[in-house]
Amino acid sequence: MVKLPAHAQAFLAPAKLNLDLRITGRRADGYHLLESIFCLIDLCDIVHLAPRTDAEVILHAPAASVAAEQDLSYRAAKALQQAANCRLGADIWLQKNIPMGGGLGGGSSDAATVLLALNHLWQCGLNRQALMEIGVGLGADVPFFLFGRNAFARGIGEQLSAFAVPKQWYVVVKPAVHVSTPAIFSHRGLTRNSKPSIMPTFQTLQPFRNDMQAVVLETYPEVKEVYQALKPYGKPLMTGSGACVFIGFEQKGEAEAVYNRISKKYEAYCVEGLESHPLLDR
Ligand code: C5P
Repeated sequence: MVKLPAHAQAFLAPAKLNLDLRITGRRADGYHLLESIFCLIDLCDIVHLAPRTDAEVILHAPAASVAAEQDLSYRAAKALQQAANCRLGADIWLQKNIPMGGGLGGGSSDAATVLLALNHLWQCGLNRQALMEIGVGLGADVPFFLFGRNAFARGIGEQLSAFAVPKQWYVVVKPAVHVSTPAIFSHRGLTRNSKPSIMPTFQTLQPFRNDMQAVVLETYPEVKEVYQALKPYGKPLMTGSGACVFIGFEQKGEAEAVYNRISKKYEAYCVEGLESHPLLDR
């Protein structure tokens, strides 16, 4: 990480897991209708921001292989400037701890954190709803991170209701492969007709599933291998469109024991579920 100027401020951007994900239909524009339980976890990127008096937005050290202008954090800052008619700019540095292309929402969370933090630093005064409307234009997962607490999501992920998730620890494993979200969503074999539910509770939702998992396991042997490796320890589930696979545990010690074994062979994380976003604790 490069040396940051003294006036840069650091903001956390937590990752998420989809504890359940069902595809209930498709909109006319091709986007899929979902029902999903989103849970925040304490694996966080750190977004460093320094406001500028000119209108430039400069993303330093952009995520690997992505042009700065395509990065969601950059686009979030530009979208906020425009929506709030703001003439200030910002320097942005991303300290990435959340693996990319893993279904953990790192890029979306960074973008949500940029919106929240710059709305404050630039004194734009936009309310949460307005930020969420900007967010959904950037990506379907962004509104969840602005909502700020565990949620049951509908629509394409923008219709959010608070959802109580019991305290759990998770072992999350990142297969050594990048899953293409658009390719999975457009796969012919994808389940697209799960029955919409009335809002479940964590206890009544049985069994947990992810409608994208079967197609991803079939298409990417690396994901299947990780899934098989985790199976002896519980019921592995994929998050988002993959590639990460996780298991939830009620006891921290159980999660640590599985992590100690699985991390010998795979890129793994032992994380705690959060109730709310660190920037939006209420
Ligand atoms: O919103 P996001 O940029 O994460 O989505 C990437 C792609 O995944 C979209 O362009 C679309 O093809 C697909 N997608 C979808 N339905 C969703 C979310 C994403 O079809 N609810």
